[in-house]
Amino acid sequence: MIKSITGTKDILPADIAKWQYLEELLRETFRLFNYKEIRTPVFEETALFIRGIGEETDIVGKEMYTFKDRSETSLTLKPEMTAPVVRSYIEHSLGAQQPLTKLFYISPMFRQERPQAGRLRQFNQFGAEAIGSRSPLLDTEMIQLAYGILKSLGLNNLTVKINSLGTPETRETYKKLLKNYLEDKKSLLSEDSRRRFDTNILRIFDSKIESDQTIIKDAPKLIEHLDDESKQDFEVVKNQLSKAGIPFQIDTALVRGLDYYTKLTFEIDSGSVGAQTALCGGGRYDLLIETLGGKAAPATGFAAGIERILLACENEKSLNIPDQSIDVYLIRVDSGLEDKIAEFASVLRTQNISCDYDYLNRSVKAQMREANKMNTKYVLFVGGDEYKKELLKLKDMSSGVEEIIALSEFNTLYAKLK
Ligand code: HAM
Repeated sequence: MIKSITGTKDILPADIAKWQYLEELLRETFRLFNYKEIRTPVFEETALFIRGIGEETDIVGKEMYTFKDRSETSLTLKPEMTAPVVRSYIEHSLGAQQPLTKLFYISPMFRQERPQAGRLRQFNQFGAEAIGSRSPLLDTEMIQLAYGILKSLGLNNLTVKINSLGTPETRETYKKLLKNYLEDKKSLLSEDSRRRFDTNILRIFDSKIESDQTIIKDAPKLIEHLDDESKQDFEVVKNQLSKAGIPFQIDTALVRGLDYYTKLTFEIDSGSVGAQTALCGGGRYDLLIETLGGKAAPATGFAAGIERILLACENEKSLNIPDQSIDVYLIRVDSGLEDKIAEFASVLRTQNISCDYDYLNRSVKAQMREANKMNTKYVLFVGGDEYKKELLKLKDMSSGVEEIIALSEFNTLYAKLK
């Protein structure tokens, strides 16, 4: 038997209500904050991600699904959305139409990671990108958006972590400090970190290896060497978060796993999902548009993992979404009424009343069982003595109240059933 690929998941009908509920909440929230949806292709030229995310990151170095198509072009399944959104923003001159472009997305992503709870190879993200403003108020807006959505889902156990990576100039100065600090400890670092010491020293902070972490823990902190502008912007974010009643912690090691960040970075963790604690992450990326060939424009954004969020909801039992049910189930009391029932069903459907009936020739008892299983609001009995008298029996399944309707007044059902 052919099975699904490791690290991918079917979203089955029994789970779909949660996804649809979340997607509706997202669309409504993004509308409130005036973000417009963008959809980009599932694959892009590999160079986009190498240039955008950075060659020395785990994503580019270890996790991308990269392949050559028949014309030998190297393509990659998108591991994240910021680079594709920026590519699209540049390609379609979105910035020329409005000085600030606010976009959101809900889309599958692909990373060849070791699968475990909350870590998949195809997973879904929602996120937002705002391109065109350097205002730290927009950074705060990203955190408010993400935090607000998580709170609306009833999640509690949340930690908001923020940091600032400063401007590229500050970072260059800081990298020298870090290099000095690590120079005599280099031989104690892991092989990956030793390589990164030369290629992209900040990435050493991403190392999950304990000995690396012990060494890096006492390293000079970037946040203590910020330029004035980054410092001021960071203050604005902190003040705004406090005013919005969003609790936060400063995490000086929060460099994030992608190279495009400048100034603010943030993550929201959950204590309810096991090892993979980050529900979302983001930050400012003022240089990416230029790096990818566009006219320089400051930008900020975030993305959140839907599977992880739903796992947290499940573990906190925070979502209680009833199964979607139909308005009415038509029950065939006597055989020979199949055509009539099909006719009633199509009339009801044209009136926007959701309904279904038995196609398997089952007994009245089995049809009733089906109606109960479907959690239908009403059942309509067609047949028996009533039908001979041109009457139908309607039963309200929650109250149990029954009512007789004349066939000639079938249209009075429409208002009742909705
Ligand atoms: P990221 O931190 O790589 O950021 O991913 C964001 C979120 O996606 C994570 O916090 C996590 O919830 C989810 N996620 C990542 N990998 C997996 C996986 N293998 N399985 C399940 N969930 C996963 C970005 O992607 C940036 N593009 C965020 C951003 C937008 N920064 C600025 N704008």
